[in-house]
Amino acid sequence: MQTIKRIGVLSGGGDCPGINAVIRAVVLDAAANGVEVVGLLDGFDGLIRDRVRMLSAGDVAGILAVGGSILGCSNKASPSRVPVGKDAAGKTVYEDGRGRCLDTIHRHGIEALVVIGGDGTMSCAQSLVEVEPDLRCVGIPKTIDNDIPGTEMTFGFLTAVETATEAIDRVQTTAASHSRVIVVEVMGRNAGWLALFSGIASGSHVILLPEIPFDPEQVGREVERTCRRGGHAVVCIAEGARPRGGAPVATIDPRLPDPVRLGGIGAVVARQVEERTGIESRHVVLGHVQRGGAPIAADRIIATQFGQHAMELVRSGRWRRMVARQNFQITDVPMEVAASGQRLVPVDHALIRAARGVGVGFGDT
Ligand code: F6P
Repeated sequence: MQTIKRIGVLSGGGDCPGINAVIRAVVLDAAANGVEVVGLLDGFDGLIRDRVRMLSAGDVAGILAVGGSILGCSNKASPSRVPVGKDAAGKTVYEDGRGRCLDTIHRHGIEALVVIGGDGTMSCAQSLVEVEPDLRCVGIPKTIDNDIPGTEMTFGFLTAVETATEAIDRVQTTAASHSRVIVVEVMGRNAGWLALFSGIASGSHVILLPEIPFDPEQVGREVERTCRRGGHAVVCIAEGARPRGGAPVATIDPRLPDPVRLGGIGAVVARQVEERTGIESRHVVLGHVQRGGAPIAADRIIATQFGQHAMELVRSGRWRRMVARQNFQITDVPMEVAASGQRLVPVDHALIRAARGVGVGFGDT
């Protein structure tokens, strides 16, 4: 087995709290073992356009608790879909940039790649392996959505839960003061993990998840019942939630590898609730607030474990594996598992049962 002397590290997709903590763990473990680290800037864009910076132990001092990423992120850069100009009709023309990525890897003597990201990032890494089957890479699961198959937890998720919970706590007091309904829209793509966790932690009265299409009439009934008892109601809704038989609220952004941008369902539900119940309703979209800021202690710990385990994979030559957490233990799974889609909330999840048990409505029965 070849001893790896130089690795590349990149963070694909959107940012999330704890990326710097992962980068720090990778760099410190590498430095302790005589491995050099090439940081690739702005995710796969760094590979496509040869934008790199060397990372030493000194470069990662003091970043454990800092949000964002010192390497930058990009959810547009995709190796196999690089925009190269416009055609006569003004449409963007794309070309396969995987060869360029591999050139950057070889030019800098990068012997193994550590990719930090979600399913899209793992798929991009897989797409490079399709061109160069011997490419050595390992993955680290990152997203506030907590929706990556193969791992029960991604780093960044618990910080986003904390941020959303604190925001909804504040919404609770203003909703109570005005005897209003406030609908809070949280992120999560097509998975309801963030809404479920922050909804329960904040004492939201109704939680609407993509996995449980809601009946607007039933949501109205649940809100009315809550207001009759307590005077106000808070609805925590995932951005990917949708009514029974309906579609999620989304816009299309053709620049993105995944062009569907979810958002706007909170406003729709607030309007529907007010029309059906006559109770004054407002909505709040928490948006990118959930992705920003310092990682909480739990995420700093998970991120450190994930980064260090990735380096163990590199040292032992266990390629095309993604670090994972299962039953609270750090382990790893084949990268293609992570690239296989989204991990949704099972509708019989213990947390849904517990929430129903304490009277939370899910807009479905
Ligand atoms: O995947 C993380 C996430 O924050 C989703 O929850 C959200 O739908 C999306 O990214 C937003 O992406 P953007 O930064 O492109 O608005």
